[in-house]
Amino acid sequence: MLTIAIAKGRLQDEALDLFRRVGITIPGDALTSRRLLIEDQSGRYSFIFVKASDVPVYVEYGTADAGVCGLDVLMESEADVHQPLDLKFGVCRLVVAGKKDSPAPSYNPMGTARIATKYPRMAADYFQRRGVPIELIELGGSVELAPLLGLSEHIVDLVETGQTLRENGLAEIETIAEVSARLIVNRASYHLKRAPVADLIETLKIGIAAERE
Ligand code: PRP
Repeated sequence: MLTIAIAKGRLQDEALDLFRRVGITIPGDALTSRRLLIEDQSGRYSFIFVKASDVPVYVEYGTADAGVCGLDVLMESEADVHQPLDLKFGVCRLVVAGKKDSPAPSYNPMGTARIATKYPRMAADYFQRRGVPIELIELGGSVELAPLLGLSEHIVDLVETGQTLRENGLAEIETIAEVSARLIVNRASYHLKRAPVADLIETLKIGIAAERE
């Protein structure tokens, strides 16, 4: 049996849709329950539902053989896992944003740019590569509030439809990364459970291709 960790929240429904389309189905009553560990109908897969940022942790440590999470979460975690498949849903961008018409953060010998974000590692890496010193302000959510309330001039955050930025008078300034949902696989499981893991990857590939036709 393979254990698969699914990120709760924005990716969960699309992940389960993809699994359902390829014949991996979770009983309806289990889905509506509060259970966090659920077997599929074939008994070949066991799903765990965890916070998005915990998916790479479960997979890296082998508690889950595989997982579904966003590339944003994966890059931020720097987990040592295989990443065999772009699942092509949950498409969005990690961007630098600020108040409309505000310039991009740039090198300023008089001080550092303040950046509020849920993604401190990626933000630090991005600005370091550009030689822009920054002060990071780490938030847990609703990051768009920071420029409105003067906590920071800029934010680094995900944009999907752009609605949250627009409704808060903010605009994208630079794109840091294109993001989508990924299948990740534990390095040991990749070898020790080669046949079922390969079967899962091939099955999902077919499901993704069929959806895109
Ligand atoms: C994400 C992201 C943005 C918003 C972008 O937040 O951090 O705030 O969605 O989506 P949009 O471009 O379609 O408006 P999420 O809903 O995950 O909640 P959070 O702000 O509490 O992290």
